[in-house]
Amino acid sequence: MSALKPLKKAVLPVAGLGTRFLPATKALAKEMLPVVDKPLIQYAIEEARAAGIEQFCLITGRGKTSIVEHFDLAFELERTLEERGKKAELEGLRAMAMEPGSLVTVRQQVPMGLGHAIWCARSFVGDDPFAILLPDDLMLCDTPAMKQLADAYHETGGNVVAIEEVPRDKVNRYGVLDVAEDKGRLVSVKGLVEKPPVEKAPSNLTIIGRYVLMPEVISHLARMERGAGGEVQLTDGMASLIGTQPFHGLRYEGRRFDCGDKAGFLEAQIAFAMTRPDMAPAVREFLQRYR
Ligand code: UTP
Repeated sequence: MSALKPLKKAVLPVAGLGTRFLPATKALAKEMLPVVDKPLIQYAIEEARAAGIEQFCLITGRGKTSIVEHFDLAFELERTLEERGKKAELEGLRAMAMEPGSLVTVRQQVPMGLGHAIWCARSFVGDDPFAILLPDDLMLCDTPAMKQLADAYHETGGNVVAIEEVPRDKVNRYGVLDVAEDKGRLVSVKGLVEKPPVEKAPSNLTIIGRYVLMPEVISHLARMERGAGGEVQLTDGMASLIGTQPFHGLRYEGRRFDCGDKAGFLEAQIAFAMTRPDMAPAVREFLQRYR
């Protein structure tokens, strides 16, 4: 396929209230909760970078300033680490440094829903395709999930969303695909519905927090139509694109942890600690005490 615009931009909405994680999220941004030793937002930025993304837009709200601080240069800290000879820690900090001007923030004053959050990024998006990463969906994949999506975008063009199968009785928590053709790894989509009642769900293929979207979605979101839960739903905006542009779901390879949920967050801690040679033996040992 020729003349596909390269995927260089990502929007990361972090303006949600995180009510499922109260009281932890009363004064602390949910996206700053660490899994092992890294905050959720850093995993998402690193995943985007691994997919070739170069420009980042955080949709923030009240109480989220620590996220921006996290990606700033910590000059005094770096100097102290240098003086103390803490090389590994210093390298870790330097590796996460952002290119000047590559991270912008936009304020969503009122959390009116994910679709509204994405619409707030309209100036950043302009006429370009863009990725969306929801940092509370934490991905454990051999090939980073966003890289899998970016590769699929280069194959199909148009919109591509990461999908997974869920048990039928849980479809009412997600955006659900109405399938035109199931080709295995890729699924072409003829409709989308947000949080359908279980008996009305068109499939059990659901959208997770990774997307590659075309800029035209913004004009659909601009109508500010309220959908499920009275919120401006991204799923409804995406559904309006179907028929005018290619729209595919990608069965990504790997695992997702819903870190906006307490049990999902705890499982992520264990799963990520198990990938670390410096931690896995100790974790495996203490877990035996909880059977
Ligand atoms: P969630 O559905 O997890 O909502 O949002 P939430 O408010 O963060 O958490 P709970 O359900 O109250 O516990 C999915 C993603 O969309 C962002 C959130 O920050 C999260 O990354 N979001 C949601 C916004 O940025 N603005 C909104 O108005 C809604």
